[in-house]
Amino acid sequence: MSSLLELKNIKEYFPVMNARIFQKVVGYIRAVDDVSFSLNEGRTFGLVGESGCGKSTIAKVILQLEKPTAGAIYFRGKALTGFKRGEMADYHASVQAVFQDPTSSLNPRMRVADIVAEPLVINNSQNNSRSDITDMVAQTLMQVGISPDRSKCFPHEFSGGQRQRIALARALIVGPGVIILDESVSALDVSIQAQIMNLLRDLQEELNVAYLFIAHDLATVKYMSHRLGVMYLGKLLEHGPAGKIIEERIHPYTKALFSAAMPSHPDLIKEEVVLTGEVPSAFDLPEGCRFHPRCDRAMKICSEVEPDLKDVAENYQVACHLYP
Ligand SMILES: Nc1ncnc2c1ncn2[C@@H]1O[C@H](COP(=O)(O)OP(=O)(O)OP(=O)(O)O)[C@@H](O)[C@H]1O
Ligand SMILES: [Mg+2]
Repeated sequence: MSSLLELKNIKEYFPVMNARIFQKVVGYIRAVDDVSFSLNEGRTFGLVGESGCGKSTIAKVILQLEKPTAGAIYFRGKALTGFKRGEMADYHASVQAVFQDPTSSLNPRMRVADIVAEPLVINNSQNNSRSDITDMVAQTLMQVGISPDRSKCFPHEFSGGQRQRIALARALIVGPGVIILDESVSALDVSIQAQIMNLLRDLQEELNVAYLFIAHDLATVKYMSHRLGVMYLGKLLEHGPAGKIIEERIHPYTKALFSAAMPSHPDLIKEEVVLTGEVPSAFDLPEGCRFHPRCDRAMKICSEVEPDLKDVAENYQVACHLYP
């Protein structure tokens, strides 16, 4: 399987300024702290972790809305830093995103036809005519289950689920290789969530598009992902095949996260672990393993030495002194 997009040792540190002395940096928020993973063609990489652990920052780094402090991104095997202007334009068309709240990402004053057409108009490398664009909009709306008859309507005339379909159409129209889905189904009712996830899976099958699926909710991640990264305070603590991680839950953080979130699968629950304590700040990280202050299995070494991700099986890594 070929890797389409690869993140290597990505760090994103945000400087924290002294409130009184202008431009004096007093420290850094380590929002993303040495993260590596790849997205494969036609596959889904799920990213889970508590609020503030750096998931959206990773999305922003991939979308080049934030410049990484360190590390590199490779697209089809080539580092983005070496891209020429045309290659960069292709990259921006190839990597699309759908966010949680379609009401803020869809311009309320634009008609759906124009919203969906906009990326194509901006990136009109194929010099499509007006009627070509109208046809493509109609076809893409049909693909996401919205009747093209409604393309003259405004976003507020649609339900939340339909608006998310429109946001998806806007992402699909340029024929992307990757779509970042940052909490894209999180705000929807469970039944609507299921419909959108089925649509996403059908589209993936049909178009061979890769997804970066970001969520808090483990049930959705489980349904969508082929591979999974469990993130805690800027780092991946467990990384591997989604099914295996959900079954094994090797890292104490993964165990805690999953037992807190998925009591609906009694046969899968191995031990009931409850996440207690505050999440420490990404500004003032604990020494050693960043999870140790909340870990019920912490040992002396855990407060002293930061564990690296180590192989526990093929393509499966865990960062914990208990393993391997
Ligand atoms: N532009 C910024 N400047 C300073 N700090 C930032 C900035 N963007 C994000 N952060 C901080 O970086 C950390 C990671 O934030 P991020 O939004 O990536 O988390 P998240 O995992 O997406 O959370 P959520 O699940 O709530 O969406 C947080 O501590 C956040 O406050
Ligand atoms: Mg986020």
